[in-house]
Amino acid sequence: MKQLQEKILTEGKVLSESVLKVDSFLNHQIDPALMQAIGEEFASRFADEGITKILTIESSGIAPAVMAGLVLGVPVVFARKRKSLTLVDDLYTASVHSFTKNETNDISVSKAFIGSEDVVLVMDDFLANGQAALGLVDIVEQADAALSGIGIVIEKGFQTGGNLLRGRGIRVESLAIVSSLEHGKVEFLEEEMVR
Ligand code: G4P
Repeated sequence: MKQLQEKILTEGKVLSESVLKVDSFLNHQIDPALMQAIGEEFASRFADEGITKILTIESSGIAPAVMAGLVLGVPVVFARKRKSLTLVDDLYTASVHSFTKNETNDISVSKAFIGSEDVVLVMDDFLANGQAALGLVDIVEQADAALSGIGIVIEKGFQTGGNLLRGRGIRVESLAIVSSLEHGKVEFLEEEMVR
């Protein structure tokens, strides 16, 4: 998605050879117009899938997921990473290990919001090693729901998540795929290369 690539090139900051900072439009401040375009793009890619629900994870997955949900006309559920006062029983839970942060967290979704009748689009802001996405897929499986695919805003193509998920036969649609952050420079892989 050209508009997203342009935004990454103008506002993204390369923090290291593996970390891209996009706090000005996705991870801290949010650009609503860009989020709307992102939502429309996901909605058009998954238009024929009969999606009934979008599942994402707090916090940065929520903005693009809500915009996709608005266009597709379906509710958006976000997995919680922390215990909540009101989220107490009847939960699906999955363990998610972050290699980046070297910690494992349980994520939870209420059984009230995803069931066997659902066709689910999983979404997240970043795909690095794929552990968050796998945790969400695990929850879709626990619910006996159908997985339509995974929508990612920015995939780091040089990390393992994309291959891991596509290797399982899952349809992964990433709107920008970063192939390298070497020498402080962002390079993209064209999406056709990973299909
Ligand atoms: P994985 O799920 O693909 O295995 O990712 P990983 O554990 O490596 O990432 C942990 C967190 O860091 C996730 O957000 C992920 O979205 C984010 N992240 C990973 N690589 C980058 C990067 O290059 N740039 C940015 N900006 N974020 C990255 P989180 O901690 O859950 O944060 P949030 O969703 O609450 O914002």
